[in-house]
Amino acid sequence: MNPLEQFLADVIALEGPLRIDRYMGLCLGHPRHGYYVTRDPLGDKGDFITAPEVSQVFGELIGVWAVGVWAAMGQPEAVNLVELGPGRGTLMADVLRTLRKAAPAFAAAASLHLVEISPVLRAKQRAAVGEAANWHDRLEDVPEGPMILLANEFFDAIPIRQFERRDGVWRERVVGLADGRLSLGVGGIVPGTMGKDGDILEFAPAREEIARQIGARLGAHAGAALIIDYGHLHTAAGDTLQAMRDHGFVPVTETPGEADLTSHVDFEKLAHALTEGGAIAHHGMTQRDFLLAMGLEQRFVQLQGKADDATRATLSRQMARLADEAQMGNLFKLLCATSPGMSAPYPFG
Ligand SMILES: C[S@@+](CC[C@H](N)C(=O)[O-])C[C@H]1O[C@@H](n2cnc3c(N)ncnc32)[C@H](O)[C@@H]1O
Repeated sequence: MNPLEQFLADVIALEGPLRIDRYMGLCLGHPRHGYYVTRDPLGDKGDFITAPEVSQVFGELIGVWAVGVWAAMGQPEAVNLVELGPGRGTLMADVLRTLRKAAPAFAAAASLHLVEISPVLRAKQRAAVGEAANWHDRLEDVPEGPMILLANEFFDAIPIRQFERRDGVWRERVVGLADGRLSLGVGGIVPGTMGKDGDILEFAPAREEIARQIGARLGAHAGAALIIDYGHLHTAAGDTLQAMRDHGFVPVTETPGEADLTSHVDFEKLAHALTEGGAIAHHGMTQRDFLLAMGLEQRFVQLQGKADDATRATLSRQMARLADEAQMGNLFKLLCATSPGMSAPYPFG
């Protein structure tokens, strides 16, 4: 048993089985043993790779998108550039480089606000984007004002609850103990009549709360948010809780705190929460469609023009990884929300 598993077993022995959201929150964010608190999980030597780590082009195209949004906002002289869960800071570094080149006045107008719980990753972010950024534990702590907000693979890490229908009744899924080891099970009966036996429903009130806060900010001040993650554009039943370690899936109760624990994002519910908060949520799209519309192929051709054969092949592999249907292209979706009165920024709507 690792120290977190021991801690969780003690809590369960005292308090009874843990809801999935509590289990996820402790696995990822326990102040001493949590996954994100203790490590940088990204990269070949880590557990997974994200789009900004695949290629600089991802962040460059998002930078170009942000320039369009800033122009549509009327080129404000002060704007908060906010990122939720910035990882190694790679996306923001690529965005900032693009702004300095394409719109120096935007780069000068932007105050950088990074929302991050991991001390290890905060240090990497500082190295990537410089001392001038402001770090916060929560979105609530970011000052109000005109805002462009980015979140790549952030919402999948925010805890969910799961409910399972068996023998004609719904029960909440929990983590308990079986033979002294952590084990998935179900709790008491909860009301509900819909669905059929075997169905699993996921709810993410913590995600929706953050989306509502983003919506409220966009309702009060000009701006836009771009949310990127793996998930589905329309609500559907199914178990999407997953643990990933060393680039492969592992059981969700195995080695807690040493594997990334996430679930797919329900973009329909996020859009609803953004709207409830006061923003306009535009039609979502796949990462493939977004990147192609923003000029992915042209940028890669440009980079390949100056490259040797080996680098050209690497660049082709990177482009395929980001946009091919069988790789990240279709699994990842983008949702854009803006202040009311602002039309959908290209290529949304
Ligand atoms: C999967 S990583 C994605 C990193 C980065 N956006 C990228 O694309 O490479 C998730 C990020 O969210 C951060 N994170 C996870 N839960 C968080 C929370 N509750 N509040 C703030 N940051 C969180 C992690 O520390 C990490 O930086």
